[in-house]
Amino acid sequence: MKAQDNELVTRIGPGTACGELLRRYWQPAALVDEFDPALDPRMQERAVKALRLFGQDLVLWRDAQGRWSLLDRDCPHRGADLSFGRHEGDGLRCPFHGWKFAADGRCTETPAEPAGSKLCERVRQRSYPVIERAGVVFAWMGPEAMTPPPLPAFDCLEAPASHRFAFKGLWHANWLQCFEVGIDPAHPSFLHRFLNDAPLDSVGSNAAGRQFRSESAGDFGGEKWPMTRIMREFFRPEISFEPQPHGVQITALRPMTDALTHVRVTQAVFPATFVIPLSPTLTITQMHVPVDDTHTYWYAFFTSFGAALDHEAMRAQRLQFIALPDYIPKAGRHNDWGFNPAEQRSSTYLGMGEEDINVHDQWAVESMGAIQDRTREHLGTSDKIIMANRRTLLQAIETVRQGGTPPGVADASVAALRTGPDTVDGIAPAGTWSHWWREQVQAKREQALWMATQHAGADTAATAATSSAANIATAAKAS
Ligand code: FES
Ligand SMILES: [Fe+2]
Repeated sequence: MKAQDNELVTRIGPGTACGELLRRYWQPAALVDEFDPALDPRMQERAVKALRLFGQDLVLWRDAQGRWSLLDRDCPHRGADLSFGRHEGDGLRCPFHGWKFAADGRCTETPAEPAGSKLCERVRQRSYPVIERAGVVFAWMGPEAMTPPPLPAFDCLEAPASHRFAFKGLWHANWLQCFEVGIDPAHPSFLHRFLNDAPLDSVGSNAAGRQFRSESAGDFGGEKWPMTRIMREFFRPEISFEPQPHGVQITALRPMTDALTHVRVTQAVFPATFVIPLSPTLTITQMHVPVDDTHTYWYAFFTSFGAALDHEAMRAQRLQFIALPDYIPKAGRHNDWGFNPAEQRSSTYLGMGEEDINVHDQWAVESMGAIQDRTREHLGTSDKIIMANRRTLLQAIETVRQGGTPPGVADASVAALRTGPDTVDGIAPAGTWSHWWREQVQAKREQALWMATQHAGADTAATAATSSAANIATAAKAS
């Protein structure tokens, strides 16, 4: 990649071309859990949190009526930090001179000004549209004059609270390299390789790091195989991709015998989300949102098509590796990501633990340096998804530059049709795998009880949900 293009696709601050593109999509700004006093005692006193997104300093707070508000953090009077503001229920008051702001950014008081002053009427703090969905507060940071698009009707956003769980973590790296690891179908055979297989019955499907240890769908000579064994033994996938309304569908085939092939279908949702199977009934949708050019939060949405999820257990597992309140991983460059050469020799390909495979990806992403120098890389055939995605990204940046609508930003009627997207990890008949995986998906969807109830009123419900989301967004922007 040319140095100039690398700059173009990685810089996301205000006024940058890629920043303009990414701001056209709803982005996760915080977990609702971050406002839970049980997880962050500071919230007992004050539901206010300083945030940084896209290189901008912001404050997210919830007023007494439970309305979310995302404001620029610098007070429009003389610039003091509003995240230290006094939470007064119906507004956030700057402690410097007492100016007060409502959730929609209106200035409601300037108490040091002469009685009868009209200064307030001329002052408005920028307020960004927000929507709470699936345990996450989403923000839209596109141009003020523009109406935000509706959220798509993806499974991870539609599942009921019992069947979803959201978590996040900070990586010290640029957003694009975080995303590029997730859409790389070749790396699980290496980066996440376990040299030995744990017995399948010892693997809880919720376990934090065990995603490749769960079994694949289908069987091999009457035997179930863990994903990790297939990834290890069949390490040269045939990779292909198909354009979809949301981005691309990625297929990695690992032919096992003349009669059987392993199929792994994952999804890249443009611009920075991937969906992968964790087990036959569980998927992870992972979104990547830039904090600034060199820091990125991943947001993982776990969606169950089978049993309800045990939120407390899932959180407890992850808190072994990630520290609250800012969701900072305990492993990182400062401690060599926990690297252990003896383990590398005996049990894992990488040597950074078996329990938390997230740290494997973290090492891949962070060890490249804060912004990968793509002028020095050598891409191969197995990098074809990475290359395709970069072409799409460059085109989308150009589209927005020319005043167009970037890919996947749909109106409400189209958003309601953007469902799924589906994934699979399984052993299929070689000749009919493309039919087989659709059947697997169908069966998975049919057994998901929450989906059956929701789809009873399919079209109307979906349309109502997305248009109400659009209304909320419009209202938040207009007010
Ligand atoms: S700087 Fe905020 S009120 Fe003066
Ligand atoms: Fe990975």
